[in-house]
Amino acid sequence: MVLTAFVMSLLSGAAAGTSTDLVFFPIDTLKTRLQAKGGFFQNGGYHGIYRGLGSAVVASAPSASLFFVTYDSMKVRVRPHVERVINSSGTRSPHSVDTIVHMIASSMGELAACLVRVPAEVIKQRTQVHSTNSSWQTFRTILKNENQEGIIRNLYRGWSTTIMREIPFTCIQFPLYEFMKKEWALYDNEVGHLKPWKGAICGSIAGGIAAATTTPLDFLKTRLMLNKDSIPIKSLIRNIYKEEGFKIFLVEYIQGQCGLVPAVPSSWVCMRQCILCFNRLRKRKLYCIDSMIKFL
Ligand SMILES: *[C@@H]1O[C@H](CO)[C@@H](O)[C@H](O)[C@H]1NC(C)=O
Ligand SMILES: *[C@@H]1O[C@H](CO)[C@@H](O)[C@H](O)[C@H]1NC(C)=O
Repeated sequence: MVLTAFVMSLLSGAAAGTSTDLVFFPIDTLKTRLQAKGGFFQNGGYHGIYRGLGSAVVASAPSASLFFVTYDSMKVRVRPHVERVINSSGTRSPHSVDTIVHMIASSMGELAACLVRVPAEVIKQRTQVHSTNSSWQTFRTILKNENQEGIIRNLYRGWSTTIMREIPFTCIQFPLYEFMKKEWALYDNEVGHLKPWKGAICGSIAGGIAAATTTPLDFLKTRLMLNKDSIPIKSLIRNIYKEEGFKIFLVEYIQGQCGLVPAVPSSWVCMRQCILCFNRLRKRKLYCIDSMIKFL
């Protein structure tokens, strides 16, 4: 029975991942084009917004499953160690145990998911800013290893920046999510059985805050992945600063905050960012898994 529930939530996680990737794909394309060098219109504007969809679809379910399987098994394995440390430190708080276990397990889940997600993202983003090539053609171009850096290195371009983004993202999101759920449950007298839709709202807010704080890294990740040759992140920052000025960082940062600042929803960029925050959270399958498990 336990296994059935596991498989069920695994499948629903994968299905949720794939369907949200499909629905939000055009927004993702617009985001990539905004972040790319040269700006939005030079990188394709509104044309061909489904470019690169293939790589997203192929990678979606495996990366969601990898996340979920790792998260689920690590949660069980990490707990005794965390308990021991917390017990010996004298602070007997079951909440902090839960939070720390969540953070460690999901960081490991992210790491595992990145094995699939990073190559798919490299192919996807390059396809999104290319005017004619398909995901498959981009993949074949990478396989040709024209810059002599090696296929693996080219496929895993931006790996460390992606991890630098995913792990803080998770470590901000999870404790916030747990905290908001707890407070809401206390407030509405639903301790232990908070309604799934309320959990979803907590999840979107937590995801939004986490996304906003990690946006600069997302921008750098896109630039790294799109660059023809691999480049150290320091040089990348220096080049961007020299060629595009400090303004570009500011613009990127403000765009990242817009999901949180309802006072400036007038610009479509901000609208995009709001949806993106929501999308990012859904990608993590956080509340999907959470409510599926309750539902099963
Ligand atoms: C830590 O303490 C809790 C209760 O205080 C106990 O249930 C748990 O078994 C302890 N864990 C370890 C690893 O000592
Ligand atoms: C686009 O596809 C062509 C033909 O497969 C290939 O020669 C070219 O390098 C590709 N461009 C990119 C940027 O992938």
